[in-house]
Amino acid sequence: MATQIAQQPKEQKNLETALEFELALEFVRVVEEAAIASAHTMGTGDRHKADQVATEAMRQTMESVPMRGTIVIGEGERDKAPMLYIGEHVGAGWHDGAAFPEVDIAVDPLEGTNLCATGAPGAITVLAASEKGGLLNAPDCYMQKLVVGPSCKGVVDLDAPVADNLKAIAKRLDRAVTDLVVVVLDRPRHQKLIDDIRAAGARIRLITDGDLSAGIAAAVIGTGVHVVMGSGGAPEGVITAAAMRCLNGEILARLVIDKPELEERIEKMGIKDKKRIYTAKDLAPGNHIIFAATGVTEGALMKGVRFFGEGTRSSSIVMTRHSGKVRFVESIHLAKRPDVKVRFA
Ligand code: FBP
Repeated sequence: MATQIAQQPKEQKNLETALEFELALEFVRVVEEAAIASAHTMGTGDRHKADQVATEAMRQTMESVPMRGTIVIGEGERDKAPMLYIGEHVGAGWHDGAAFPEVDIAVDPLEGTNLCATGAPGAITVLAASEKGGLLNAPDCYMQKLVVGPSCKGVVDLDAPVADNLKAIAKRLDRAVTDLVVVVLDRPRHQKLIDDIRAAGARIRLITDGDLSAGIAAAVIGTGVHVVMGSGGAPEGVITAAAMRCLNGEILARLVIDKPELEERIEKMGIKDKKRIYTAKDLAPGNHIIFAATGVTEGALMKGVRFFGEGTRSSSIVMTRHSGKVRFVESIHLAKRPDVKVRFA
């Protein structure tokens, strides 16, 4: 093992060290700041404001991260988004020319803008990063998704009848189909899916938004979520895939190309097989993947941001694929006063 490492090119070793050990905590800082900014807007009913402040905080904090980052999934095309647009360069490395690692970054500064605007559970701030080329540059369209945890990898099929997938999942989880909880976005387009799940006998949790955090929950034992089904945003699908690579879960996904302008865009992006079923590894093929998210409102895995006079408390998850770490990070951001106190829990 020692010789293997010694034989790796120096550049590769630097990348591993920087990506997995140094950038992970830097990215926690980024998602924390975005979460705190948007949490201030919780319940105001203004989803655009909530998204705007999260985006600004994320962008600003990224400026001090020692990297040369390129946004591959962000707030949209350059002409449509003022910052965190696709292709934008972010990070300290672009300014001072230091030899910081070059990384691709996928962001969702506020996943669940409506959830934050209404104070409903499940809003998170999130980003995923990898070495160059490690995250698919997915178009901003819908994606049909099926997300499961490690035990159910390999037994589900995006084209199989819903009942068959549920039976296979139940078998792997050693329980009855009636004991399963399937998360589905509450949308009219999912009516048939919902009917099929009900007919199969599984329980359903309909969510108004946030299939990304639901996907992460499906890959973690003890969250009470066993599978996520249905279509949601393709960018969210790629970020979910990055999380799955870190959690050994699986996402099976297919782009939903239902408009002529999308056909054109997909062709320009070089995607030839429009019906292709992607796995987590296809969507996030990177060897070195970092995934970081912070709760804005209460969630299954992370608590929401809490403000308490003497400071702010945030709850995050940060995962690194190659080094195999999943960290739950509770942070206390102290108010700038000499007498502030820190409480343990
Ligand atoms: P926002 O973060 O933009 O509010 O989107 C949240 C979300 O619910 C995603 O979790 C999901 O993938 C997508 O929107 C679904 O899109 P639609 O609301 O068009 O069904």
